[in-house]
Amino acid sequence: MMTADALYDKLRRVKLGGSTCLYTPEKCEEMAPLINEIETLKHEKNAVILAHSYVSPEIVEGVADYVGDSYALSKDAMKADADIIVFVAVRFMGETAKILNPTKQVLIPAELNGCSLADSITAADVRHERDLFPDHTFVCYINTSAEVKAECDVCVTSSNVDDIIERVPTDKVYFVPDRLMGLNIREEMDRRGVRKDIQLWNGTCYVHEEYDPDMIRYLRAEHEGLKVLSHPECSPGVLHLSDFVGSTSQLLDHMKTDDSPAYLMLTECGLTARLQIEMPEKKFVGSCSLCRYMKANNLADIKRVLVEPQPQDFVTLDPEVMKRARACIDAMFHYAEAPSLS
Ligand code: 13P
Ligand code: SF4
Repeated sequence: MMTADALYDKLRRVKLGGSTCLYTPEKCEEMAPLINEIETLKHEKNAVILAHSYVSPEIVEGVADYVGDSYALSKDAMKADADIIVFVAVRFMGETAKILNPTKQVLIPAELNGCSLADSITAADVRHERDLFPDHTFVCYINTSAEVKAECDVCVTSSNVDDIIERVPTDKVYFVPDRLMGLNIREEMDRRGVRKDIQLWNGTCYVHEEYDPDMIRYLRAEHEGLKVLSHPECSPGVLHLSDFVGSTSQLLDHMKTDDSPAYLMLTECGLTARLQIEMPEKKFVGSCSLCRYMKANNLADIKRVLVEPQPQDFVTLDPEVMKRARACIDAMFHYAEAPSLS
C-alpha cells in the first residue's frame, strides 16, 4: 500500500525536468490512490508492468515491476509469465515484447507512442536499400518497428551495438536508422582496429541530437571535477567530450560506483530523476530534455488499459512479420551473448 507521504518522500528529490517533474504533497495525494488501484488490478488480472527509465517517476517508483534499458526489458518481457504485459514506454518496445512472448497480451497505454528514430524508416525503405547494397548485412537498432526488424539481419541495442557490429562475420554493414549512433560506431570500430564499410540511414533521436559540445565546455568550466555521461544517440562531438558513454542502464550502473563532485547526464530526464531518487547524495548540473513519447504515459491510462482495454491498446502483429523479426532479435541474443572476442 503506497501512502501519499511515502510517495512524496521519494518524488520530492526530483529536481530536473521543469514542471512535468515538479512533485508537491498535493500532487502525491492525488496519485497515491491511483497507484494502489493499479496494484490491485495487476493482481486481479495477472498483469505485470514493464517500464523504461524515461517514463515519469511516479510510474517507475509507483507501479513498475521491471524498469530498465531496451535490452534488459526485452529479456524481462521474454521471461514474463503473467497473462498480460503492460509495456509503459513506446510502441517499438511493446512490439518487441510481443515478438518475444507471443502468447501474452501486450498492452501499450499511451496513444502517442512513436519514436523519432523508429518513425524515420519503413520496411519499404529497407527493401529499397537492400536492393542498392545487396552484399551488406543489415543491422537495425532496436528503436525500429517490427516490420523493419523483419527486413533486417541482426538487431542491436545501445548496450551491445559496438560488440555486435564487431562480431558479425562480414566487412559490409548497413546500420539503420540512427545516423549519429552510426557515426559513433564508425569511430569505435576505427579505435578497435576493426575495418568495416558501414553505411548509414539518416534518422536521429530528436532528444539526443540537441545536446551540444559547447554546453559541455561551458559547464565543465563552471563545475570543477564535472563528470559527463552520455547516451550513444548523441553526436560524435558530444561523445568526444564525455567521460562515459552507455545505455541508460549502463549509465545508471556506472554511477553506482563513481564518486565525482558533480554530474551532467546527456540523456532523457527520466534517467536523471531515477538517479536523484536512488542516489540522493549525488549532485546533478545542467538541464535535461524530455521525450514527448515516453512522457505521454500516465497513471490514468495504465489503469484504463487494465480495466477496459480498447482494440488499439493491444499490440497485434502479422504472424509472418513476427517470425522474421524474431529471427533478427534472436541474432542479437546470439552475438550479444557470444564469448568475448578479446
Ligand atoms: P536504452 O536502450 O539505452 O534504454 O535507450 C532507449 C532509448 O530510446 C534511448 O533514447
Ligand atoms: Fe525515441 Fe529519442 Fe524518445 Fe528514445 S528518447 S524513445 S530514441 S524519441
